[in-house]
Amino acid sequence: MSWVERLRENEAICRRAPSAHNTQPWRPEYHPDEITIGIDPARSLPDSDPTGRDLALGIGAFVETCLIVSAELGLTVTAAPGPRLVPAADRYATPFTIADVEARRVARGPYAPGRVDAAVIAELGPGIAHVPTRDLVSDLVVADRWLFGTPAVAAELRDWLRLSPAHPRYHLDGLTDRALALSRYEARFLSAALRAYPVTRRLGLPALLAASGRGLLRYDGSVLVLLADDDDRVAAGRRLLRTWLTLARHGLAVHPLSQLVDCPATASRLAERVGGEPLAVFRVGRPLAEPVRSARR
Ligand SMILES: Cc1cc2nc3c(=O)[nH]c(=O)nc-3n(C[C@H](O)[C@H](O)[C@H](O)COP(=O)(O)O)c2cc1C
Repeated sequence: MSWVERLRENEAICRRAPSAHNTQPWRPEYHPDEITIGIDPARSLPDSDPTGRDLALGIGAFVETCLIVSAELGLTVTAAPGPRLVPAADRYATPFTIADVEARRVARGPYAPGRVDAAVIAELGPGIAHVPTRDLVSDLVVADRWLFGTPAVAAELRDWLRLSPAHPRYHLDGLTDRALALSRYEARFLSAALRAYPVTRRLGLPALLAASGRGLLRYDGSVLVLLADDDDRVAAGRRLLRTWLTLARHGLAVHPLSQLVDCPATASRLAERVGGEPLAVFRVGRPLAEPVRSARR
């Protein structure tokens, strides 16, 4: 069996890669001695991600996941521009395994107080900035108001929410009530509020939802920011996945808060604060409850 066929057989593990709204936008195409990673346009987020930043980060995370899987399978594969996976002289050098890929998950519930150790941040390498959670409390309110108050962005979120197990795509993709750590009551409220959106928006839904998220960063914890080092967003997505897996090895979970970089006002304040171009922002810590395994196609 060729290396392409072996990796194809293990595609389900590669698909454990993270993506914004769990859209799973990658489209691997299998050729005799090469795999090209295309994009499914129906799985992009043109309104919430107009520059394609998160799309490219998700593709990069998928590429890195494929390389980790191929290394453990003993395949000699590397990444090339495109992105593509191509034969290489050696196995991809990585400390991570298929078990790490399978165990990785985003955790959106409460975390125990405590900041990430400086030694752990140093292990993540350059291009990561630290911000104490409390410093971002008011910016998160502004960003959430922008998210829920911008009709096209809120509509895109609504399209990827699966707030009840009765949703036909509950086990396939998108964000479930359980993955979002919502109670049954909260899920029903959000579902009804977004269904009646034009009305609820006028009635103050954005402010209400933003206020409900106010407590999320009100503890002594850490937010980490992945900074751009060049224009290669796929490479940044590979770095993002390695960062999240390294943190997971220390028992630390992540909770991305991309609205802070999507909302123009908070994005520019964050850039000033960290002295660089933020590509991804995530809360990091020890979750108080075990996060759920997210859906995949
Ligand atoms: C580039 C990128 C941006 C993301 N932004 C957010 C976000 O703003 N809020 C959030 O809760 N999750 C965010 N996520 C996490 C995804 O929703 C998550 O990876 C996906 O639902 C699959 O779940 P899992 O990572 O637990 O497997 C983001 C993930 C990526 C790769």
